[in-house]
Amino acid sequence: MRNKIIAGNWKMNKDLSETKGLLNDLKTKVGAGLGGVQVIVCPPFTSLALAAELLKGSTIKLGAQNMYFEDEGAFTGEVSPKMLKSAGCEYVILGHSERRQIFGETNELINKKVKKALASGLLPIVCVGETLDEREKNITDQVVTSQVKGALREISSADMENIIIAYEPVWAIGTGKNATPQQAEDVHRLIRKLIGQMYNWTVAEKLIIQYGGSVKPDNAAELLKQSNIDGALVGGACLKADSFTQIIQSANVV
Ligand code: PGA
Repeated sequence: MRNKIIAGNWKMNKDLSETKGLLNDLKTKVGAGLGGVQVIVCPPFTSLALAAELLKGSTIKLGAQNMYFEDEGAFTGEVSPKMLKSAGCEYVILGHSERRQIFGETNELINKKVKKALASGLLPIVCVGETLDEREKNITDQVVTSQVKGALREISSADMENIIIAYEPVWAIGTGKNATPQQAEDVHRLIRKLIGQMYNWTVAEKLIIQYGGSVKPDNAAELLKQSNIDGALVGGACLKADSFTQIIQSANVV
């Protein structure tokens, strides 16, 4: 049985004082009642060091939303895995659809980042997912397959233990239109089967596959009940302690 992992992707939200407010609220609400659920928060870069300080002594883990694949150098505007580690991060989201669509990230670039994150001791949350157009053209399976293969090129089976995959259909992100539990489960099953073929069934069975895309307190339980959905990557609903806590609680009971 895989433990559930719920991650909050804050995106470009929350300044320092808002970070303090949200994390203090979250710590009070979540308290010690996490059960077997692992909670991760991914604030913007500017809030990471403060978040690490505020989360000291808590079981909530810290992640970043992106990184570059070098340790240092002339890469204006970029942040390295070494910097993320020193700010207190354990996780890093890579290949989010907003990075792919708005900032032109390719499978090749994402693969470089995944390799570098692993080599630096960060645990990548690798995002994949089809657009509405791709779903309507019935090419969801091909798109997701090529994203998974592209992001994981030359990743060893030992390293797979340190990777989370997040399936996030682009048409469901920030739109209020979540995938039905069945639609999500179908793609999660496909991803697990693919990992089984690329590696072996032991690796596939251990892999945590999160669902993301308009996860809210009122749909989380149904999604998390599916046998191949091992957690959620939550955007909008993680910005308030109340709604994020409710999602965490629904993971605790399924
Ligand atoms: P959403 O975002 O929950 O606001 O749809 C999810 C994500 O982009 O990770």
